[in-house]
Amino acid sequence: MAHDKPTSSAVLPLLAFTILFFFSISPAMAAPMTYNVVSFGAKPGGDTDSTRAFLAAWARACSSTGPATIYVPLGRFLVGSVVFRGPCKNNAITVRVDGTLLAPSDYRVIGNAGIWLMFDHVDGVSFYGGVLDGQGAGLWACKKSGRSCPSGATTLGFTYCKDIVVNGVTSLNSQMYHIVIDRSENVKVQGVMVSAAGNSPNTDGIHVQLSSSVTILNSNIGTGDDCISIGPGTNNLWIENIACGPGHGISVGSLGKELQEPGVQNVTVKTVTFTGTENGVRIKSWGRPSNGFARNIHFQNAKMMNVRNPIVIDQNYCPEEKGCPGQVSGVKISDVTYEDIHGTSATEVAVKFNCSPKYPCIGIRMEDVNLTYENKVAEASCNHAGGITSGLVQPNSCF
Ligand SMILES: *[C@@H]1O[C@H](CO)[C@@H](O)[C@H](O)[C@H]1NC(C)=O
Ligand SMILES: *[C@@H]1O[C@H](CO)[C@@H](O)[C@H](O)[C@H]1NC(C)=O
Repeated sequence: MAHDKPTSSAVLPLLAFTILFFFSISPAMAAPMTYNVVSFGAKPGGDTDSTRAFLAAWARACSSTGPATIYVPLGRFLVGSVVFRGPCKNNAITVRVDGTLLAPSDYRVIGNAGIWLMFDHVDGVSFYGGVLDGQGAGLWACKKSGRSCPSGATTLGFTYCKDIVVNGVTSLNSQMYHIVIDRSENVKVQGVMVSAAGNSPNTDGIHVQLSSSVTILNSNIGTGDDCISIGPGTNNLWIENIACGPGHGISVGSLGKELQEPGVQNVTVKTVTFTGTENGVRIKSWGRPSNGFARNIHFQNAKMMNVRNPIVIDQNYCPEEKGCPGQVSGVKISDVTYEDIHGTSATEVAVKFNCSPKYPCIGIRMEDVNLTYENKVAEASCNHAGGITSGLVQPNSCF
């Protein structure tokens, strides 16, 4: 028994050390602080403006020195335009939404805000779940009536952000674009669902521009404009496993609207089903001078179901013939691959390369393409386009 004593006297300091150790590292390991918007005054009934509660919760999360969560429980929360502004004191903010965020039913309230829910200069935000209902139908009707209307707000936007996750979000009936990634880096969008009427104007599903290392996975997009549009200054973009339709397809562009414009580089679009869309995979540029470009663009494994223009490069875009008559596109398109693209075209010409007479498309590669029109081989048309084919390519290439 006598030899017990030394042992127990050694345990005490060890215990004290353990406790000290635990407390000194605990801030980093602690569960994130959670800010429930309801405790900041948000009301779930759908008719009380909860904008201030969301901003108050954001202020707390953003100024927290450790990880923070903003929680939106079940219910319908009416919110006006909100800017979640950084920089923040931490780079681990989670926004977890179980309920619905509802834009004001009068489209004029946010119609000129640009973006309804905007993250600006924030690093490390993960946005999980929820329904974002832009209630855009009123604005679409206004636009179609020819009256003068506000241009409309994008539903969810990230600008000057880094390390962003958007996961499991449903975006309904945006006034304008549904999700925009702008001037941002390392963004992962997955399991997103976008839904708006097939004839709703300018309601692109996901738009990326001036951004690098963006990944868009496992998403289902049906809308009135491009399912995904890829604007100037996009690098290292990966898109995979997407269902698109209705909509205008997946587009690189419009490029070359500006004379000075950053290019698009290293884009992969893989495993996409297009159902009844206006286009499948498209590259489009304005017919006017520009130093822009698109290169290393890979379209891989696409299924076309009754698509009007399954494969298209159009360098003569000029809506209403304004600002470009008689001009040709300066945008240089090179190294574009189409691999394993099959299915049905809703028009006779399933492959259309309409490139710039001044800067022909170069290095187009087609491999294993089989597109039919009314159970017959479809047609291809080329203007100023060059490249190679391998494997089965039908319609026959027109290079
Ligand atoms: C192209 O982008 C992918 C991500 O989409 C990236 O993994 C790859 O390294 C990039 N390639 C080059 C040459 O930058
Ligand atoms: C091309 O696709 C059609 C329709 O799926 C199919 O019937 C046809 O056999 C395919 N052509 C070749 C050469 O594989």
